[in-house]
Amino acid sequence: MTGAAVEAEAPGTLSSEFGPFHGRVWLNCAHQGPLPRSAREAALEALEQKRTPARISDDLFAAVPARLRGAVARLIGADSDDIALTNSTSYGFNVLAHGLPWQEGDEVLCVAGDFPATVVPWLPLRRRGVRIRLLELPGARVTAEDLERAITSRTRVVAVSWVFSFFGHAVDLEDLGRVCRSRGVLLVVNGSQAVGARSLDVNATSIDALSACGFKWLCGPYATGFLWVAPHVRARLRYEQPHWLRLQIKSADAQGVDLNRELDYMLTEETTADAYDVFCAANFLNFIPWTAAIEHLLEVGVDRIAAHDQALVDRLLASVPETYETISPREGAERSTLVLLTHRESERNEGILRGLLLRGIDVAFRDNKLRFSPHLYNDAADIDVALAALAELG
Ligand SMILES: Cc1ncc(COP(=O)(O)O)c(C=O)c1O
Repeated sequence: MTGAAVEAEAPGTLSSEFGPFHGRVWLNCAHQGPLPRSAREAALEALEQKRTPARISDDLFAAVPARLRGAVARLIGADSDDIALTNSTSYGFNVLAHGLPWQEGDEVLCVAGDFPATVVPWLPLRRRGVRIRLLELPGARVTAEDLERAITSRTRVVAVSWVFSFFGHAVDLEDLGRVCRSRGVLLVVNGSQAVGARSLDVNATSIDALSACGFKWLCGPYATGFLWVAPHVRARLRYEQPHWLRLQIKSADAQGVDLNRELDYMLTEETTADAYDVFCAANFLNFIPWTAAIEHLLEVGVDRIAAHDQALVDRLLASVPETYETISPREGAERSTLVLLTHRESERNEGILRGLLLRGIDVAFRDNKLRFSPHLYNDAADIDVALAALAELG
């Protein structure tokens, strides 16, 4: 994310698999990513299966989660044994908050201004004497030096978003992870505003767990997500939540299910992260299209998507009218695909939002800032339309 002047891909090259957008310009992926065509078709196929249940074979109860788990694993360079399928970022954080061993006096460090899903799941631990400490930092920018200073002998976990929803900056996972490792602290990352728009190889970076939702940059349906846990973290988790279908009736080869053995009431020892899957992990209507969406992103390539997205961000930032101030980083590794702007007379932001919406340009309004978030289905023309509207409105 250097901000070097790279051209976005030609109109239609990446966007042809998306839409139609019915004349609107969707610059709000940080809220919801649209389904690619292949995912829509997969969703229709899942609907057909449900209309004609004979088409839902027993094998699918294992095959659907297995295929999704494999796609998520490829996306982040993980082993699929380390992936749990979830319904949200919060679910993954809750697994960690419930499952890690805590003692009175332990401490979790979060950053004030971070998205609530990164902070709220830890709060009930207060009842067990765990302190949840919010670091107050200018612009919520957290660096390795900040962690060096803030970590104490009581700190067990640092929880942080990779990309901050309300400020648009990306943290340096490698730097933060290095400090956490050296102090024996787990680095737990919320990847919801980054995975799908930034490349990641979890085994090449020093993070310990990553939770993300699937409905933004991964272009899946709402109520999708995943949790990656490093094996050394999984070994410390104690959080039993058996679901009959997953634990009891794995077929002899452990690849499928054997519905002829339901009354064995077996509870097999689980050693892989699927022990933390959301219940009913076949979740046909959601997980079949989400799998197709991730497979589409993999086919295009996350590096290529990231370059295209950054070219769009470049184009936007290069011509933001002078009457606006850019809150999110304008260049460097801190820059993400979330561009937050405020009119210099910030009380005008809400009116400008209305003007953009009336012109068919969808952006988010967060913390009294205008948030633009383009992804692979956008092209340079979308950015130019938004820039023209910004100039006209303010
Ligand atoms: C950084 C971040 N994390 C998580 C979420 C969503 O949380 P969940 O997946 O738990 O619903 C959002 C949604 O806006 C977000 O911006």
